[in-house]
Order: sequence, then structure tokens, then C-alpha cells
Amino acid sequence: QELQFNLEEIEKGGFEHFMLKEIYEQPKSIRDTMRGRLLVDEGVIRMAGVWDHQEKFLKAKRIIIVACGTSYHAGLVAEYLIEDLARIPVEVEYASEFRYRNPIIGKRDIVIAISQSGETADTLAALKLAKEKGAFIFGVNNVVGSSIARITDAGAYTHAGPEIGVASTKAFTAQLTILSLMAIKLGKHNGNLSAEKFNALTRELDAIPELVQHTLETTAEKVIEIAERYKDSPNALYLGRGYNYPSALEGALKLKEISYIHAEGYPAAEMKHGPIALIDENMPVVIIATKTGHYEKVVSNAQEIKARSGQIIAIVNQGDQEVRKIADYVIEIPNSSEEFSPILAAIPLQLLSYYIAVKLGKNVDQPRNLAKSVTVE
Ligand code: G6P
Repeated sequence: QELQFNLEEIEKGGFEHFMLKEIYEQPKSIRDTMRGRLLVDEGVIRMAGVWDHQEKFLKAKRIIIVACGTSYHAGLVAEYLIEDLARIPVEVEYASEFRYRNPIIGKRDIVIAISQSGETADTLAALKLAKEKGAFIFGVNNVVGSSIARITDAGAYTHAGPEIGVASTKAFTAQLTILSLMAIKLGKHNGNLSAEKFNALTRELDAIPELVQHTLETTAEKVIEIAERYKDSPNALYLGRGYNYPSALEGALKLKEISYIHAEGYPAAEMKHGPIALIDENMPVVIIATKTGHYEKVVSNAQEIKARSGQIIAIVNQGDQEVRKIADYVIEIPNSSEEFSPILAAIPLQLLSYYIAVKLGKNVDQPRNLAKSVTVE
């Protein structure tokens, strides 16, 4: 009897697609990102790439983040994290725009490139430009020894492990994790974060892998039901505020990438300046309405959608009462500080796009027209 096995099937570890495997790997990949760095009991965050250049970081006038795609969305979350916790001004820009607009960069600027592959042509070029202009350049990459990792002055690898699915999932939450560590560390050393807040945040971050695990276990079934209900919608709108505005952008990108459904992410309050015109009984609106950060305002945005008969799929915290009254579907995620809510919100958003694409029979791991790493302009 001949044993037949297919290498790819083995690599997928029993999952139907790499994307699903990678979504479910997140409790582990986030833990791997923090391993050896977050020493909770000692009250230490160890990041040699930052610490070896502490002068640069502590005297930085500004941090500019350049990235593309999902990595750009991680950069947007980092803007909230670093400005909130370390009070350093942050700008985030698409690498492709940055490199062609004669940007003003000085010696006291730090330019951070976020890139899973470390090979994205626009991000690499943006970084080279920043280097020429004298900035200190720092890489947040997943692939060890990649082109970006090689030209940077310093960096921090995300250690998420190889990501095969074209739509980025575990690399994204690893990026959010490393950027959280950086922001907390910088805040501690530049005096903007009290010892108490530092301890509270690091303890909470240390427990995030368990909360991600819990989120996977408790949301998948509901998400599958929602995917069945909305899979044939030609459009979708994603809304969020604050830290979860980038979550809305990323949720919409995930849906577009693999299901080919037109989706737009918007800051919830901007809805009234345009997107609200699109809302009718056929428009599903995914709204991230976690308790921390502008909750009441998001609730009123949800009411505006309901008043126009929009379909509301709300991502809320456990035990939420208010949004439940107006939403058509609610997905509960664990309670957390606002800082870490994008990590938890990412899970059901990834699952939703995955199950919609699977139900539509799309090639989730290799969507049409897309590449895992874009090494051309
Ligand atoms: C491509 C991939 C995306 C990724 C983007 C940036 O478009 O399909 O998943 O987010 O490139 O890639 P990077 O490797 O620089 O993070």
C-alpha cells in the first residue's frame, strides 16, 4: 500500500486554507512576538533595536511611518499608540505617496517602515529616500534578512512565522503587538507613562494571546451565520472611531481582497459627509463599537444607520446592552483597553471576510490580481 501525502496539505495542518490556519495561529504568533521582549514581572520591555538607539528615540522630533496595504493600517494604529503613550508626533503615509512628494525630513526624524515581507518596492524606496535625507530608519518586518531589514539602521522583527495567505492576518496582529511594545517602552523612558500605567498595560498585553484565543472560540460560529446572511451583498461599509478607525479600514480591505465585494472603511463620524447617502436596507454596515473610546458617539452613528434602514453588524464588548438594541447582529469580543482593542477586533473581521469568500467559492489563499509581496512599483 502506497502512502500518498501532499506536502501542502501537511503544511496547512488540517485547515482548509492557509488563511484560516494563520488566523487560528494568532494566539501563538502574538506570544512569539512578545517572547523575550515583554518581561512582565521584571517590569521590562526589552527591544535592542530601540534601546541601542535610545538617544535617537528619546530626542526624536517626529516619527514618520511608511507602509502599504495592511501594514499601513498597522501604522495608523501605531499613530494612536505612540502619540497617546509616548507623546511623540507621528505621521503615517502610504510609501508610494511619500517617496514621490519631496517630503521634509530632518535628522531628528525617525522613519519607520512596516512591512511583512520586507520587500515591498514602494516601502523600500521610501526608506532609501529617508536615509538619503539623513533620517534614522527603523524596520518592522516579518521576514528575517529581507531587503528592508538589511538597509535599516535598526529594527524589530515581528516573529509571526511565515505567512502564506496573500491577505495578511497574523502578520498584522504581530505588527500591532510590536508597535504596542514600542509605544509603551518609549512612553516609559521619555517620562510620559507612569510606572502604574506601564504595569497595567504590560500585564494586559501579556494576557492578549488568551483573549485572542477566546475571541476565536466564541465568535466563529456567529461570524459564519453572518457570512451566510450577507455573502451576496455587492457592497459593505465598515465604520470605527479612534483606535478602531484603522480596524474599519483593515476589515474592508480584507473583504475586498478575497471576496471581491466592494467595501469601504470610514471613520464613523465622517459617514455624514458622504457614505450615509449609500445607506438603505441593502447596505450591510460593520461597526466597531467597543466600550472604550467614543462609545456613545458610535452608538449614535449606529442609530443614524438604523434610521435609514441599514443592516448593522456590530462588534461590541462582552455584556454590551445598548448596541444590541439597534444592531441586526452583534459579535462580542472580550473587554480590553482601547490600546489593544484593534488586535481583538481584527479576529472576527478576518473570519468574516474568510467565510464570505469561502461561501462564494473564491480562492482565498491566492486571490486574483494580488501578490503576497509587491516588488514592482
Ligand atoms: C501586498 C499584500 C498585502 C500587504 C501589502 C504590503 O499588497 O497582498 O497583504 O499588506 O502588500 O506588504 P508588506 O509585505 O510590505 O507588508
